[in-house]
Amino acid sequence: MARILTGIQSSGVPHLGNVLGAIIPAIKMSKITENESLFFIADLHSLTSIKNAELIKQNTYATAAAWLSFGFDTDKNIFYRQSDIPEVTELMWILNCFTPYPMLANAHSFKDKSSNLSDVNSGLFTYPVLMAADILLYDANIIPVGKDQLQHVEMTRDIAGSFNHLMGETLILPESQVSENVMIIPGVDGRKMSKSYDNTINLFADEKSLKKQIMKIVTDSLELEDPKDPSKCNVFNIYKLIANDDEIKRMETNYMEGGFGYGHAKIALLELILKKFSNERKIYFELMNDTEKIEFKLKEGSEKAKKIASSVLQRVKSKLGI
Ligand code: ADP
Ligand code: TRP
Repeated sequence: MARILTGIQSSGVPHLGNVLGAIIPAIKMSKITENESLFFIADLHSLTSIKNAELIKQNTYATAAAWLSFGFDTDKNIFYRQSDIPEVTELMWILNCFTPYPMLANAHSFKDKSSNLSDVNSGLFTYPVLMAADILLYDANIIPVGKDQLQHVEMTRDIAGSFNHLMGETLILPESQVSENVMIIPGVDGRKMSKSYDNTINLFADEKSLKKQIMKIVTDSLELEDPKDPSKCNVFNIYKLIANDDEIKRMETNYMEGGFGYGHAKIALLELILKKFSNERKIYFELMNDTEKIEFKLKEGSEKAKKIASSVLQRVKSKLGI
């Protein structure tokens, strides 16, 4: 049995790009394999940038509610909040003492921000060591990550290797897994959908805001009567990622025949999103109105996570005489 582990940044309400590019594929993987998946909300990592208790809490709930609404099976797998397992920060300190300073100074996550050092807190500098502790604390074997996180998994392997070399075989070296064929979901301006570009479609927004976001999708200036090329249209390019084959064919015909304007296409996209994700939206809103339920799920998960964490930490400490 392989143990798959990944951390999810809780930086806001997950958007359509997060859902189609990360949540749905990860849940699919957790279902088809014999493996055990540990997915956690990396709230301690978010402290490097967010300093607002209410926001951290709300982001954690929104992220958890999104994963739960898409059916992540918390009985088969382990779903928890990073800060509920304080062993991770204890292991982090130990690993700090096995991490060479130049390795951290070379991390992209630090270097990208180091032009303005007065804005950099130490948490941002040691971010990769907390990530190494996240992984090593659970004897994880496979770490699915985006390309931007590959260097952090490499550092985890180096830190674990250094510990094992000095103290004897103790920690399991993880492998990263980057899916090359993940779809890049376009945003309302045609660029990659991302919070940082402010071009997202938030499928968990109320209907009015969702409509407003969809109406902002950028199109060319062809008239309503003109025949249109669907492949060149941002509305269609988002529509086809959600629709079934029949719906796609019908929409292509509408575009090519003319007499079908971009306003019509946008309304069709809105209706499709509301129909296709009605169940997930319902569950999401229910959970967000009853966050005790989310707390309960996270608590159950943290009890399972804690069992693994305390035994691995004990193993590490016994090698160190502490
Ligand atoms: P953002 O760019 O909005 O800040 P994150 O970097 O927090 O999103 O991404 C969280 C997860 O969602 C990652 O696994 C990332 O690969 C995936 N993801 C984000 N945006 C997209 C997108 N436009 N298309 C596909 N996957 C995406
Ligand atoms: N740093 C990761 C990101 O920004 C999130 C994360 C934290 C993570 N700890 C992890 C991912 C451990 C994989 C394994 O996306």
